[in-house]
Amino acid sequence: MSDIKIAVIGLGYVGLPLAVAFGRKFDDVIGFDINERRVVELQGGMDHSGELLAEELTNTRVRYTTNAAELRQANFLVVAVPTPIDDNFQPDLKPLQDASRIVGENLLANSIVVFESTVYPGVTEDVCGPILEQYSHLKCGSEFKLGYSPERINPGDKQFTVEKVIKIVSGQDEPTANVVAEVYGKICLAGIHRASSIKVAEAAKLIENVQRDLNIALANELSLIFQNLKINTWDVLEAAGTKWNFQKYVPGLVGGHCIGVDPYYLTYLSTKLGHNPELILTARRINEYMASHVADMMTKGLNEVNKPLAGANVLVAGLTFKENVKDIRNSKAKNIISRLKSVGINVFAIDPLLDDDAIRNFGAEPVRGFDNLPKKIDGIIICLIHEPFKSLSLRQIKDVSNGKVVIVDVKGLLRGEAARDLGVAYYSL
Ligand SMILES: NC(=O)c1ccc[n+]([C@@H]2O[C@H](COP(=O)([O-])OP(=O)(O)OC[C@H]3O[C@@H](n4cnc5c(N)ncnc54)[C@H](O)[C@@H]3O)[C@@H](O)[C@H]2O)c1
Repeated sequence: MSDIKIAVIGLGYVGLPLAVAFGRKFDDVIGFDINERRVVELQGGMDHSGELLAEELTNTRVRYTTNAAELRQANFLVVAVPTPIDDNFQPDLKPLQDASRIVGENLLANSIVVFESTVYPGVTEDVCGPILEQYSHLKCGSEFKLGYSPERINPGDKQFTVEKVIKIVSGQDEPTANVVAEVYGKICLAGIHRASSIKVAEAAKLIENVQRDLNIALANELSLIFQNLKINTWDVLEAAGTKWNFQKYVPGLVGGHCIGVDPYYLTYLSTKLGHNPELILTARRINEYMASHVADMMTKGLNEVNKPLAGANVLVAGLTFKENVKDIRNSKAKNIISRLKSVGINVFAIDPLLDDDAIRNFGAEPVRGFDNLPKKIDGIIICLIHEPFKSLSLRQIKDVSNGKVVIVDVKGLLRGEAARDLGVAYYSL
């Protein structure tokens, strides 16, 4: 272990906390990213994603760099670059291929390269391994080894951090898996699970998110049914949740870069192998549909209270992809806003985690605080409940409303009082 020199490639939501955790236990960890701005910020003790505090960034032995040649000092390289999908919902492996090339060009013999990016089974050995070989001129399996260890980090979650969750590790052979397990064992104090192969570890990560997607889709479908029944989904879930084995999933918008993306990695592979993954794709379709459903609840509500859509003022509260996280990737608030605007509604938006420019990029006019609305509102959509929204009351909304207000309450925040108030038209999932 004393010979291990770690480098982490890609310092985003996954790579940065990992590098910082390694830097508390190992000397001279290299944190490499191609994004110069990100690296300069980190060198200055600033993580714009808000995940790590300045003291956490400085109280660790990580050397942040954009200089790929520094990777030559490492012999245990961890790759945590994005694995998005393209416009056709197909895996986009370009960042991973680019990172493999950069690592390959700077790879020392006898190194271990561990991938953490979420991928379909086979990518590490069949896509990344050959690129590493091509650019390093070293033989995979003898002159360097592969490992895979999927990440379970949950941005915004201070409880289940890298150190506190069980980590799956794998290696292309037994001795490699042993080293990978030992290195991660230094920081993952909750324990290590050794998967039987790299492909098993890749698949395990994917199905963690596929399962969540399916369960959320079920909750969303139930909410579509219960809306027609005019009963509140949250009340039903609360009642059913008293059974010992009922799984507590709630309806909502599935944005972000994991749950709404990873299933497509599996459906891509499944289709390629000749199996049509009907259930997984149906769940995806239901979850993708919810943004337009939420926007349509607002337009139906405005019709119900006899307010013309064109020129109506609607406030959207909460734009990031989930509560208390600054990440806006694939946020469904964008789809909601563009659907509202397509029928002539004026959209204002409030999100304490975003600056005005970021809010304008969603196509909405930024508002700072419920007391600072430029106009009285005809409707409000509460997409998610950031910490400061928890104290939002029906009274506050009525005070800034123009007559009978339409409330679309995605997460059921006000379902008690607002649902009973005849002065509002109230909808929730
Ligand atoms: N964010 C999560 O909650 C989460 C959880 C589990 C797994 N994952 C997976 O982990 C991987 C990384 O996700 P993330 O959220 O950290 O992404 P991110 O976008 O936050 O960070 C990725 C970083 O990689 C850098 N990068 C891109 N190409 C690079 C290259 N060629 N060389 C070096 N750096 C490069 C980017 O500049 C960026 O800083 C993805 O596969 C994702 O699916 C993410």
